[in-house]
Amino acid sequence: MTRPSAVVILAAGEGTRMRSSTPKVLHQVAGRSLLGHVIEAASALEPEHMVIVVGHGREEVTAHLAEIAPWTLAVVQEEQLGTGHAVRVALEFLSARGASLAGGPVVVLTGDTPLLRGSTLQALVADFAASASTSSASSSPSSAGVTGATVLTAVLADPTGYGRVIRDGSGGVARIVEHKDAAAEELAVTEINSGMYAFEGSSLASLIGQVGRDNAQGEEYLTDVIALLRASGRGVSASVAADPSEILGVNDRVQLAQAAAIMRDRVNEEWMRAGVSILDPATTWLDVDVELEPDCTLLPSTVLRGPTSVSSGAVVGPGTTLVSCEVGADAQVRHTWAELAVIGPGASVGPFTYLRPGTVLGAGVRAGAYVEIKNTTVGDGSKVPHLSYVGDAEIGVESNIGAATVFVNYDGVEKHRTVIGDHVRVGSDTMLVAPVTIGDGAYTAAGSVITEDVPPGAMGVGRARQRNIVDWVLRRRPGTASATAAQKAQEEQ
Ligand code: UD1
Ligand code: CA
Repeated sequence: MTRPSAVVILAAGEGTRMRSSTPKVLHQVAGRSLLGHVIEAASALEPEHMVIVVGHGREEVTAHLAEIAPWTLAVVQEEQLGTGHAVRVALEFLSARGASLAGGPVVVLTGDTPLLRGSTLQALVADFAASASTSSASSSPSSAGVTGATVLTAVLADPTGYGRVIRDGSGGVARIVEHKDAAAEELAVTEINSGMYAFEGSSLASLIGQVGRDNAQGEEYLTDVIALLRASGRGVSASVAADPSEILGVNDRVQLAQAAAIMRDRVNEEWMRAGVSILDPATTWLDVDVELEPDCTLLPSTVLRGPTSVSSGAVVGPGTTLVSCEVGADAQVRHTWAELAVIGPGASVGPFTYLRPGTVLGAGVRAGAYVEIKNTTVGDGSKVPHLSYVGDAEIGVESNIGAATVFVNYDGVEKHRTVIGDHVRVGSDTMLVAPVTIGDGAYTAAGSVITEDVPPGAMGVGRARQRNIVDWVLRRRPGTASATAAQKAQEEQ
């Protein structure tokens, strides 16, 4: 494989049509920035250098690059004078660093095409290498000399807005004309310029300075380099993208949603082919960092974000969002929202359960309806079946937390921990006022407010003894339906 001497990704534009305070290339599709997708695809080429041209929102974009791809080189284009100018800035930067462009082609990409595949770029570079070797080896009359560039093109039913690829009589690319500069017969051409190219480095470097600004937009067009290459006797070929959706550029929120939908279908299809059951792919949204084992099942309206993983036999959904979670084998997670939580093998979660960061549920754990858990480890086989809040706690194995139990972890200033042993039975409606420890095998009485530790095997009772005020209703609520019912019951006794 020919390795490019450099990949240059243009990402300095403002992206006005997004109408956003976030730089366009930082908007996300499937949990990864638009720019991140392009970098990922370009990485398949293993270039010697990867240069990202930044301008608008440069602080945010460079900070993002430092996070996701610290090995890339960010170069600032102070003023956005056009795609040709952006490439010129990148080449000057590389030359100032003493980088050689002799090894392989210079590949130019744009930062707003998230659907681009690495394999398509590999085909572009292979096509460039193939036409470079045939053009230098043959002396056929159709050959237009040493290949200076290969343009990634696509044929679109609606080419509106794109630069059109004008071919010469022998099938080579003669020039590219921008939509705004095109004549009527040129506008009828449906083969468009994707804005991605492989250039012979030294030709590009010598011609980029000759690009003028005499056009409808008053910009330095990178596309003008194509005609300049031809005028200097070099050939230009086209590499036609098999899947035109890959070159879809995101310019506004409508195209962002279109790109996200195409990516969703693509990701879902890959997982289904890998053995994952997805009942309703149209409502299942998986980030690119999600990992799924064969034979797990995703039910409708499931959203898996970040590096979430789901093991074999697990069933997730319907109506579930998991952010950076781990779901063990054969677990069931229904109508749940969970973030940074570990759900053990065979566990059962939901419906209507909220698992917050730091939740670790062991094997076979049950977390049921209207239960919120955070920063808590729940041991194997333990259950929190109904209506409870569990925070900052450690629960042993095979313990049961009765309905409507609250782990009272916050004193208004600090958070405190609760420790529950193995085989504990916490009665319904217990308030566990932390810090507090319930020993192995201990019970608490329903309705207790537990403020002191309960030793192993003890029953903790923390509630007032009940008293009945006889005939209170008859005396204080005479004539009510309750009083009548009470009287009738007393007479029947
Ligand atoms: C460009 C091509 C067009 C092609 C289309 C594909 C030119 C002149 N035209 O048009 O033939 O069909 O892409 O999408 O190249 N950028 C900079 N600095 C600048 C100007 C642009 O970094 O000074 C970046 C933008 O952020 C963007 C990319 O380059 O990511 C393309 O620029 P844009 O102005 O959108 O070009 P198009 O008009 O779409
Ligand atoms: Ca564009």
